[in-house]
Amino acid sequence: MEYTSSGQRHSKPTRIAHMALAVTIVTQLISSLVMIPPLDGNTADFAFAVHKYAGIAAFVAALAFWLVIASRRRGTHALSLFPWFSRKRLSLLANDLRDHGAAISRFHIPDYRAENPLASAVHGLGLLLMTGMAATGVAFLVAARSGLGEETAWVTADLQLHVLFANVVWAYLIGHAALAVVHQIVSKRSLMEMWSLRPDAGAPVTEVQGN
Ligand code: HEM
Ligand code: HEM
Repeated sequence: MEYTSSGQRHSKPTRIAHMALAVTIVTQLISSLVMIPPLDGNTADFAFAVHKYAGIAAFVAALAFWLVIASRRRGTHALSLFPWFSRKRLSLLANDLRDHGAAISRFHIPDYRAENPLASAVHGLGLLLMTGMAATGVAFLVAARSGLGEETAWVTADLQLHVLFANVVWAYLIGHAALAVVHQIVSKRSLMEMWSLRPDAGAPVTEVQGN
């Protein structure tokens, strides 16, 4: 993990892309609870309009996140987020998984470490998942604009994937946000590392030295 000049772990473009993606995904999940999709007969539903436009914004935010990861010089290494094709990274991931298993079997919360292969690999999968959700949603939109209906085989498959992975999005958001809060409380590391745009925000929290 490379740090920024002010000692932060995540660069400003990373934080902005993360905020945009998180806010749009939460909007998608909330709107999905109340919307009436056009397939169910209502073509002018307000909540579905929110789902549609925030979904397009989520697509843009996900693409921006990929661009930031590909072009940034500091922050989590792309191979930590996607270790699947590197033998060395996979072995680091296996070791970290073992350490986590050992800590949990002793009813300990695993220590927070800046280099955390397991957390990074899950973050990468999360980004892939959100990109897939946004892409299947946008593909549905393109199909609808082209006059293709739900009866078209690939449109049906596309929406089935969208609905299937929706549950995993809920699980990811709840798990990821809950762990961020737990680490804030237990490991005294600041949530602001990811959620503030102030240049000095989120610098590592240090214990006050006793005298
Ligand atoms: C579903 C929406 C979200 C997605 C897709 C998402 C995705 C990600 C990704 C890909 C990273 C890794 C970034 C990197 O290392 O370059 C990350 C880190 C982080 N996220 Fe999220 N996030 C979401 C929502 C949230 C929420 C709601 C919170 C807070 C409550 C949060 C807190 C954090 C924190 C604190 C980190 C830094 C973790 C670390 O460096 O160890 N995220 N997130
Ligand atoms: C990352 C972006 C997105 C997320 C996280 C998301 C999430 C969801 C969720 C949670 C549902 C409810 C699934 C269920 O019934 O259990 C849903 C349904 C749906 N979404 Fe999205 N969505 C996204 C983008 C889009 C976009 C851009 C569109 C395009 C208009 C779209 C169109 C739909 C439609 C038509 C349904 C209803 C499917 C059905 O009931 O057959 N979504 N979405």
